[in-house]
Amino acid sequence: MPRLPQLSGGPRRFLLAEYALLPLRAFLGGTFLYAGLQKLANPGFLDAHNPASIQAQLIGASTTSPIGSLVAHLVEHATLLGVGIALGEVAIGVGIVLGLWTRLAALGGMALSFGLFLTVSFHSSPFYTGSDLVFFFAFTPYLLAGAGTHLSLDAVIARRVARREGRPDPMVTAVPFAVVQQHCGQFDAGTCRAQRGAPCESGACPLLVRDIPSWRGRRRLTDHERRTVLIGAGFAAAVAGAAAVLSAAAAVVGRVVGGVATSEVTHLSTTTTSSTSTTTPPSTTTTTPGTVLGAANEVAVGSFATFEIPSSGEPGIVIHPRRDEWLAYNAVCSHAGCTVTYMSANEQIVCPCHASIFDLESGDLISGPAYTGLAKLNVVERDGQLYLE
Ligand code: FES
Repeated sequence: MPRLPQLSGGPRRFLLAEYALLPLRAFLGGTFLYAGLQKLANPGFLDAHNPASIQAQLIGASTTSPIGSLVAHLVEHATLLGVGIALGEVAIGVGIVLGLWTRLAALGGMALSFGLFLTVSFHSSPFYTGSDLVFFFAFTPYLLAGAGTHLSLDAVIARRVARREGRPDPMVTAVPFAVVQQHCGQFDAGTCRAQRGAPCESGACPLLVRDIPSWRGRRRLTDHERRTVLIGAGFAAAVAGAAAVLSAAAAVVGRVVGGVATSEVTHLSTTTTSSTSTTTPPSTTTTTPGTVLGAANEVAVGSFATFEIPSSGEPGIVIHPRRDEWLAYNAVCSHAGCTVTYMSANEQIVCPCHASIFDLESGDLISGPAYTGLAKLNVVERDGQLYLE
């Protein structure tokens, strides 16, 4: 009697890509879920006056992104966009973690990652240091193959539909093709009797490909697919309800614990004017055009204020580190366009979004992810007023 191959359970299931990709699935899903909830819980994310807000990031991206003109149009819809991004991240995260409508969630993850690549990490250099491009490609296995037939709600739905229709369980198990050949009644010395002696290959095996539906020439869903979509929609509605409760809870907790978003940063209202100064000889006066930023005593020693740069509409920052010393920069961080702030404790300029650090005296980049320093502006104090020259 021929010896039967060893078919006991055990580690061979880890040969399936769906098991091998489980850590990646957990990471992607967990990261997107966390990112979405973090945005919802952060009161400053939707506060237009906050330097780390979606508004600030869009304004910055409109000047640095290759699709800057499109981004500029989105600034007026920043709040809606911010809420949409946060809820989208939650939906993608939940879908990937649970393996529910996995391909759709992966497509959403790829679209969002690509959008962030174009607006946030496009200038990362070398290119592989930007995470968004990596996220984009990390989603591709789930777009191509879904979450597999184990450990996902998609698998549960497929099994439920199969049971209702009296079909065999669709679960896939890793079995070496040599074992299939040993058990196949059509295998004959490397050829397939069912295919008139064609070579026996896994890719051409009619038994192995039989249940894979083809979309070619089809216009409608089959009953089987319609049933799968309907049951999936029921699951998706239940999960969406739970995710909505979780999102609302994150938003409420964030505001209770973190407080309602308020901007503590002094904002100076710029006024374009002319300043008059007297030089030697006393009878000679010159008029210097400039922009009045505001009263110098509005910016105490050790603090800073923001203002709008008249020529570009971008945010500027004026810092008063020591008595009689004024420093000013274009405050747009080159990474994702957040508005930088001044940390008096360590005398550095930092970006509140992803912690880029800039030199106080020169604006040079000390550490990224920003890829350039801050453009220096000339601010002087005259007669108790601050002027941008
Ligand atoms: S926006 Fe990312 S570090 Fe500044």
